[in-house]
Amino acid sequence: MQNELRGPRFEKLIERRDVLGLGAAWAFFGTIIAATIGALKLPIPTVFPETDSRFPIGKPEDFAMGLAVHLSSRRLWVFSDQDGIAAVSTVCPHLGCLVLRKDSGEFLCPCHGSKFNATGKVLSGPPPRGLFWVEISLGPDGRLIVDSEVEVSHDVRFKV
Ligand code: FES
Repeated sequence: MQNELRGPRFEKLIERRDVLGLGAAWAFFGTIIAATIGALKLPIPTVFPETDSRFPIGKPEDFAMGLAVHLSSRRLWVFSDQDGIAAVSTVCPHLGCLVLRKDSGEFLCPCHGSKFNATGKVLSGPPPRGLFWVEISLGPDGRLIVDSEVEVSHDVRFKV
């Protein structure tokens, strides 16, 4: 009986078991390594705050009257009307998702379905406050400067 286990068929069976064992060991250690790398990356932030809250958005003539310009990289909508130029942040005051603007002028947050009217006032949803209108001033080089940390009322305009 023991002689039968020493034949070439038995050796192949052991080889197959070794391969499966090695595969399981690699999967185990790969999982441990991936989990360790993930755990080590946890304290490193992946989203960095803007380094400067003041930045130029262009010259006043870039914002023709009646236009609504989306500056997606700055997370702003800039509006120009007969009273001047104003800018509103597209960052939802609930949890920071970026709101979308409908043709009607309303803003919608895709994350929790909040609605804001054209002035940024909350119409529905969980946000504790309306959208953040930011200060616009004129820089020494003639370009408009937005300070994203200075809030103004929705009816404040930069006079051209
Ligand atoms: S993040 Fe906008 S409603 Fe929650």
